[in-house]
Amino acid sequence: MAQTALDEIATFLGDRLVRSKPDRDLHGQSETWFPATPPDAVAYPESTEEVARIVGICARHGFPVVPWGAGTSLEGHALAVRGGLCLDTSRMNRVLEIRAEDMQAVVQPGITREALNTELRATGLFFPVDPGANATIGGMAATRASGTTTVRYGTMRDNVMGLEVVLADGRVIRTGSGARKSSSGYDLTGLFVGSEGTLGIITQLTLRLHGQPEAISAATCAFDDFETAVQTVIATIQHGIPMARIEFVDETVAAIFNRMNGTDLPEKPHLMVEFHGSERAVTEDAERFGEIVSEMGGGHFAWATRPEDRNRLWAMRHAAYRTILASRPGSMGLATDICVPISRLAQAVAETRADIESSGIPGPIVGHVGDGNFHALLLIERGNPEELARAKALSRRMAERAIRLGGTITGEHGVGAGKLDLMELEHGPAWQVMATLKRALDPRDILNPGKVVRIET
Ligand code: LAC
Ligand code: ZN
Repeated sequence: MAQTALDEIATFLGDRLVRSKPDRDLHGQSETWFPATPPDAVAYPESTEEVARIVGICARHGFPVVPWGAGTSLEGHALAVRGGLCLDTSRMNRVLEIRAEDMQAVVQPGITREALNTELRATGLFFPVDPGANATIGGMAATRASGTTTVRYGTMRDNVMGLEVVLADGRVIRTGSGARKSSSGYDLTGLFVGSEGTLGIITQLTLRLHGQPEAISAATCAFDDFETAVQTVIATIQHGIPMARIEFVDETVAAIFNRMNGTDLPEKPHLMVEFHGSERAVTEDAERFGEIVSEMGGGHFAWATRPEDRNRLWAMRHAAYRTILASRPGSMGLATDICVPISRLAQAVAETRADIESSGIPGPIVGHVGDGNFHALLLIERGNPEELARAKALSRRMAERAIRLGGTITGEHGVGAGKLDLMELEHGPAWQVMATLKRALDPRDILNPGKVVRIET
């Protein structure tokens, strides 16, 4: 079956269908603890038509197709857990159109967020969603990614206006429009954003862009304890101060940054903040934030006023996952990702910290605290099944805690293969509705099978 499907695909992809071991191995890896699972082959399509042909052939043969962006996801989303074809989108990486006056861009899925922003630089516009990796826009849409700027600019759901999608039967559809809003039927854009390649393959995206801010100010601010840091976040939100970023790192992460990056942060819990706006607004926001911090008893403010200082700060935050992983040589990561209502954030962090301590697993914490979202990055010794089991149990307790506190098991990383066992707990019968949608759109379960939902075929 595999052989026939692949031979048929090779007739029009030629050497862009690769069956060599190194390429398969590369696409069988993930950033976290999942065992390597190489696909049978890797395809590098260059157009929607090629994707549709590939999917059509795979559908006829019941052969799985797993889309691949930059491979930076943290829940094994792009692993071919049932074998099949990895569909690498890296050759579909162009900006097709910039509609500056509408503040929109039409892009192919394989472009990375950094490459997109480089292309946008001269337009005065930018694409704000910033996860802790240089992910592709298609992958970010597929996982409904968010990140450090979400508190101000929203998630991928808020910044994708429309899609072109190849369905499991090879049909190509368009969702959404260039209009700011629409009441025209079911929200299919919202359905495909976050569907992790299980309902269709995204081949084009219309994105919402934002104006590059006239002025930016950023600071790090240390606190004696994390409760005060979290209370400061809540007070800042309640005062309506418009933050572009408000990130938390705990004292362990501050120490890791110092050791790995040569910074000299106080080894205490920190907030890292940024304000975007006019010169005057940014100055006022920063002053009001400073007042809240001092009322709360925080201190050790360090303003990053020069662009290069700000860039260094956010580059360091951006690379946090890999830096933290490298801080324990020989370890692999299990990245937790719970998200709770902001009023329950302090409790969620406190309970998690106590749990991490008694588990004996190193678990430095970083968080997009303005969204109520944080990660304990659990560092597991490679090849140590007992530690992995302990880390998984800890991660499960975190997810249960998030649900108990009215939140979700994943704020931004998605379900992939890693959070499947928790879906029923979070969604109950609504998870069966997700399976119904999957069966309707992909009855043979060929699109990224084994992720998000479980269906019998
Ligand atoms: C981050 C990733 C782990 O926040 O989501 O850096
Ligand atoms: Zn994150």
